[in-house]
Amino acid sequence: MFQVQLLLSLLTLSFTTQSYTYTSQLSILQSNPNPLSISVTKFGAAGDGIHYDTVPIQKAINACSAAVSKHRRQCHVIFPPGNYLTATVFLKSGVVLDIHKKATILGGPKLEDYPKEQSKWYVVLAEDAADVGITGGGEINGQGLKFVQRFDKKKNVMVSWNHTGACLGDECRPRLVGFIGCRNIEISDVRLIEPAYWCLHLVRSDNTSISDVTIYGDFNSPNNDGIDIEDSNNTVITRCNINTGDDAICPKSSTGPVHNLTATNCWIRTKSSAIKLGSASFYTFKNFLFDNITIFESHRGLALQIRDGGNVSDITFSNINISTRYYHPSWWGRAEPIYVTTCPRDATSKAGSISNLLFVNITSTSENGIFLSGSGGGVLSNLKFINMNLTYKRWTKYPDGWVDYRPGCQELVKHQTAGVMMEHIDGLVFENVVMKWSNDESMRWNNPLDFRPSTVNNISMLNFYSRSYQQ
Ligand SMILES: *[C@@H]1O[C@H](CO)[C@@H](O)[C@H](O)[C@H]1NC(C)=O
Ligand SMILES: *[C@@H]1O[C@H](CO)[C@@H](O)[C@H](O)[C@H]1NC(C)=O
Ligand SMILES: *[C@@H]1O[C@H](CO)[C@@H](O)[C@H](O)[C@H]1NC(C)=O
Ligand SMILES: *[C@@H]1O[C@H](CO)[C@@H](O)[C@H](O)[C@H]1NC(C)=O
Ligand SMILES: *[C@@H]1O[C@H](CO)[C@@H](O)[C@H](O)[C@H]1NC(C)=O
Ligand SMILES: *[C@@H]1O[C@H](CO)[C@@H](O)[C@H](O)[C@H]1NC(C)=O
Ligand SMILES: *[C@@H]1O[C@H](CO)[C@@H](O)[C@H](O)[C@H]1NC(C)=O
Ligand SMILES: *[C@@H]1O[C@H](CO)[C@@H](O)[C@H](O)[C@H]1NC(C)=O
Ligand SMILES: *[C@@H]1O[C@H](CO)[C@@H](O)[C@H](O)[C@H]1NC(C)=O
Ligand SMILES: *[C@@H]1O[C@H](CO)[C@@H](O)[C@H](O)[C@H]1NC(C)=O
Repeated sequence: MFQVQLLLSLLTLSFTTQSYTYTSQLSILQSNPNPLSISVTKFGAAGDGIHYDTVPIQKAINACSAAVSKHRRQCHVIFPPGNYLTATVFLKSGVVLDIHKKATILGGPKLEDYPKEQSKWYVVLAEDAADVGITGGGEINGQGLKFVQRFDKKKNVMVSWNHTGACLGDECRPRLVGFIGCRNIEISDVRLIEPAYWCLHLVRSDNTSISDVTIYGDFNSPNNDGIDIEDSNNTVITRCNINTGDDAICPKSSTGPVHNLTATNCWIRTKSSAIKLGSASFYTFKNFLFDNITIFESHRGLALQIRDGGNVSDITFSNINISTRYYHPSWWGRAEPIYVTTCPRDATSKAGSISNLLFVNITSTSENGIFLSGSGGGVLSNLKFINMNLTYKRWTKYPDGWVDYRPGCQELVKHQTAGVMMEHIDGLVFENVVMKWSNDESMRWNNPLDFRPSTVNNISMLNFYSRSYQQ
């Protein structure tokens, strides 16, 4: 108590004109239009990018948090222009990081910059907090390139902190920003740059808004996912720009379901899947909407990679333009604009079911076809494709002729390219679908619809049109 009062007496609390209204029953805050604010420089942050500012930043957050408790109002920790090098900092309830557009929070590149428990390896971490956020137009930068052990245009080899025994293989690196067990999260107007591993990670959280966020990760570095929505409900993403090596928007279920996810008005480029459900898929995915999204030169467009027995239903993809191309096959993805798969990852896994998918108003130009693959234990049912313009042509020199079940299942299987490859489906509608094939000899394509020798039942096609065209 003494310490809190001491800190408070050090503060100069100021008011800004921004207005916040809290109507939530869950909210710890009273509705008050004026958030409190406190600058990290008040606690001695250098902002020179050389000296660690961890202690001043954490003191500012703690002071803000104390002010939140006292005044029951949100409090902004202000980062004025500068570069703030830091070890992990812990965000508290009611606190918003307000990073000036000329300010950067730089994550430390050393193992000792992160907590002992690997599950807490983030540059910014909020745990069991409510009414938290990040805003201000500035940047959080994980210095991901400092984690590259060997640069390789195919795929960089990354540093691994696996010698700690905390995790395995090359996925043993810190994430950038994490919210674990949080509610009422608002991330807006911020750049999240060069994560060493995953970028923005929601875990067991509820009611998250992510808007006007730019995410950039090195195109050749593995695992630098954009937004991972794990075991979390009620997430709204809008106006995002994501350019990464690994998956861009990636709901996962490891310990619980994911309900109600919306992503709209986004631009995405990735060497993996632009939108990917899975592959961690132990529980339900339900009620997702992806609308008005441009996917540019990615390895895979819209993907369901269900491998662990979780069921998926009621997912809509609308008004989406896609271009997908081949990259080096060490990256999952074979240029599929749409990829809907469920199969048991390995002998110990189950296959989940996938039902009620709607794809509407989709335009794509791609080097490979659509892949729709259920499996014996997990059927795809009630899939609808309405208003689709699909253009197929080749423009890279990477080899084709595989279907890609990775991770696990049948891995890579040699198979002739098809416009739509189908297996284990019950209930499929194509309506107003135009498929155009570049008649380039080298493509050897003559296969608009391909049914693997397995069940595909109850198909309806209305205005389905397929033809070759002169490039
Ligand atoms: C750590 O990961 C590297 C790279 O994947 C690997 O070569 C090494 O054997 C791993 N070490 C341990 C202890 O897992
Ligand atoms: C969700 O969080 C926002 C703040 O990000 C808050 O304004 C809103 O009231 C919350 N909604 C619910 C249902 O808690
Ligand atoms: C999400 O909603 C489901 C279904 O209501 C619930 O079981 C789960 O606990 C919720 N998760 C969180 C993190 O609130
Ligand atoms: C999902 O959204 C619907 C409609 O807004 C709501 O009724 C339902 O409670 C939400 N589910 C969860 C788990 O919060
Ligand atoms: C679609 O998203 C873009 C941003 O990517 C935006 O400029 C445009 O207004 C959106 N269109 C609609 C209809 O919302
Ligand atoms: C997709 O392309 C069409 C035609 O070029 C355009 O009218 C539409 O706005 C684009 N939609 C998106 C989401 O980019
Ligand atoms: C998926 O659905 C099947 C069939 O309804 C059910 O038996 C199974 O428990 C569900 N899986 C999960 C993880 O909820
Ligand atoms: C497909 O192309 C046709 C003809 O150019 C156009 O009228 C239609 O709007 C396009 N549909 C989509 C979903 O882009
Ligand atoms: C699909 O596009 C048509 C024509 O542009 C539009 O009228 C319709 O609302 C769109 N459908 C959806 C679900 O967005
Ligand atoms: C056939 O599939 C359609 C669309 O998925 C579905 O609405 C219909 O109920 C199915 N019919 C049967 C007999 O299963």
